[in-house]
Amino acid sequence: MTSTAKPPSAREAHPDHLGHVIFITAAAAMGGFLFGYDSSVINGAVEAIRDRYDIGSGTLAQVIAIALIGCAIGAATAGRIADRIGRIRCMQIAAVLFTISAVGSALPFALWDLAFWRIIGGFGIGMASVIGPAYIAEVSPPAYRGRLGSFQQAAIVVGIAISQLVNYGILQAAGGEQRGEVLGLEAWQVMLGVMVIPAVLYGMLSFAIPESPRFLISVGKDAKAKEILAEVEGTKVDLDARVAEIEHAMKSEHKSTFKDLLSGKGNGGLYFKPIVWIGIGLSVFQQFVGINVAFYYSSTLWQSVGVNPTDSFFYSFTTSIINIVGTVIAMLLVDRVGRKPLALVGSAGMVIGLALEAWAFSYDLVDGKLPATQGWVALIAAHFFVLFFALSWGVVVWVFLGEMFPNKIRAAALGVAASAQWIANWAITASFPSLADWNLSGTYVIYTIFAALSIPFVLKFVKETKGKALEEMG
Ligand code: GLC
Repeated sequence: MTSTAKPPSAREAHPDHLGHVIFITAAAAMGGFLFGYDSSVINGAVEAIRDRYDIGSGTLAQVIAIALIGCAIGAATAGRIADRIGRIRCMQIAAVLFTISAVGSALPFALWDLAFWRIIGGFGIGMASVIGPAYIAEVSPPAYRGRLGSFQQAAIVVGIAISQLVNYGILQAAGGEQRGEVLGLEAWQVMLGVMVIPAVLYGMLSFAIPESPRFLISVGKDAKAKEILAEVEGTKVDLDARVAEIEHAMKSEHKSTFKDLLSGKGNGGLYFKPIVWIGIGLSVFQQFVGINVAFYYSSTLWQSVGVNPTDSFFYSFTTSIINIVGTVIAMLLVDRVGRKPLALVGSAGMVIGLALEAWAFSYDLVDGKLPATQGWVALIAAHFFVLFFALSWGVVVWVFLGEMFPNKIRAAALGVAASAQWIANWAITASFPSLADWNLSGTYVIYTIFAALSIPFVLKFVKETKGKALEEMG
């Protein structure tokens, strides 16, 4: 906070009612909740889907992974939609997609119909993964932006945990059978259908929050933008100066299109601006450390260390709790120590956790289990890894993606980076079963290498954004 290059008007911004800004942020972060909920709810339903449609593992994996492709498409298009019709309308479209996907996938009449509704839901997740961070960064005063931005990840991790709990509750009500009866349906259908509740809530909340002032300025609605800036940055800042500053930053800008993301080199060739590549790099590293293997395939891990399948729910849930604890730590630190130090500490911790897992799994399984010592090491190392991911890359990447791009290209660039993240997520989750069959220890070595490479990547390419106004990014 000692640099003099920053405009004091923006840096001094302090909301008159912080509670109000927190409410706005939390409402927008409901999209993150649905992101976490929807991407993990399917875990409770896989066995039932396999059984009901009588399909093999290959087809099953495709039906599950197909939602991630919907996510990538939703993320790629959300930026442009948000720039044309506004951030709030974009949230409302995502809420409708979540709602119809919940109903459709709870009541499918065929396997392809289920896959179709999962793609539609994926589309909603992809949109929410872009619009949440962009909107939150745009309504946050700089001094709080990291903490408020981390609401998105907090909502994602809570969404994952709640879906595990709800699935467990429904399974109990169905006598422990995924195809057992609850409320006149099979348990797995209820699991997928319950998502209608947060989806409708998200849609309703979107009507209670203001449009982003930066979007309003971009469409010439300065008076309205000023009102909202007063709401979120406080009445003490010079509002006319703030509007002028934002306008100035956007001057000579037009709506962001794919072309604006290109560097201009090669005359319209596919050269992204360096900042867009950095966003893509952050996204890809976040996924290539294998975080979602820890969530999507956790029961496999527990069983290999000797936990019986029915208890594996509790152990998967402890991973989620650790994930929440790490996220809270990051929320407390992100505006104090900054984004880069957190990312670096996280990478170092992840290297240790992943390397220990690689070591433990290099031992042969006896009766499907690791030897006792290696089993314990694998268990502790997995939790250690998730903790360090959560207190760093989990939060920091979504915060960075929301704030690191200049106004002109924010929504579109974030869309490209988030889309790359969904494709990377798909690549990791779809390849894990075959990689694990090849060599589980070797698979963890690969994730360890990516965690290690993320350190020089951050040191060399990523710029600290803590405390800066969005108008200073570029
Ligand atoms: C981040 C990742 C997401 C992952 C989650 C786990 O949000 O983007 O893929 O599932 O962290 O906490």
